[in-house]
Amino acid sequence: MRTRFGTVLGKRMLSRILVRYISCILVVILVLFSRSLSAQAANIDSYVRRYLHITEQITLDLDGQGNTKEFSPQQLSDGKQLFATNCINCHVGGATLPDPEVSLSLTKLKQATPPRDNINGLVVFMRQPMTYDGSEETYWCRQVAPRVLSQQQVENLAAFVLTAAKKAPGWGTEVFSN
Ligand code: HEC
Repeated sequence: MRTRFGTVLGKRMLSRILVRYISCILVVILVLFSRSLSAQAANIDSYVRRYLHITEQITLDLDGQGNTKEFSPQQLSDGKQLFATNCINCHVGGATLPDPEVSLSLTKLKQATPPRDNINGLVVFMRQPMTYDGSEETYWCRQVAPRVLSQQQVENLAAFVLTAAKKAPGWGTEVFSN
């Protein structure tokens, strides 16, 4: 009798201890998980997260010929920072202050010659800005030489411009809304 009672009690205690032990581990896991989540979110630029709604890898048109390229939220954030340092003076909100006709809206990029609504089109443009009809060099926009920004950096910049043109509310509209 006694021994039986003893084992029942022992089992109960054991299972209680186990339950506590497991719930402790769960709490630790949860805390670690939420920390890494917020750390990840912190790496994403708030504009990219809030207005472009990018929280994971996205696929963008590379060359207008069916090829694509992946970009991470961190690469888009890098592009956003580069845009803020190098381009925003003239292109705030996707407008083109010195020449509002040639904004950075998706339609405008698409209708340029050659089209600029893909990564390579934008990179080629940034390396050597051309007039809207593609007939000659333009000195109005900022030329970005390879010694200033690497290939990866101009691609990140292009990815930001393209995604903003697709998603940012009011980006490049000819009516100044901001
Ligand atoms: C000093 C002002 C200025 C700065 C700085 C500037 N741009 Fe421009 N950008 C312009 C002007 C003006 C045009 C129109 C040029 C033309 O068509 O002759 C233009 C045109 C463009 C176009 C073509 C838009 C279309 O619809 O085809 C893109 C893309 C562009 N800029 C991107 C950039 C990026 C990216 C940066 C930063 C690296 C930048 N610009 C910096 C003035 C500027």
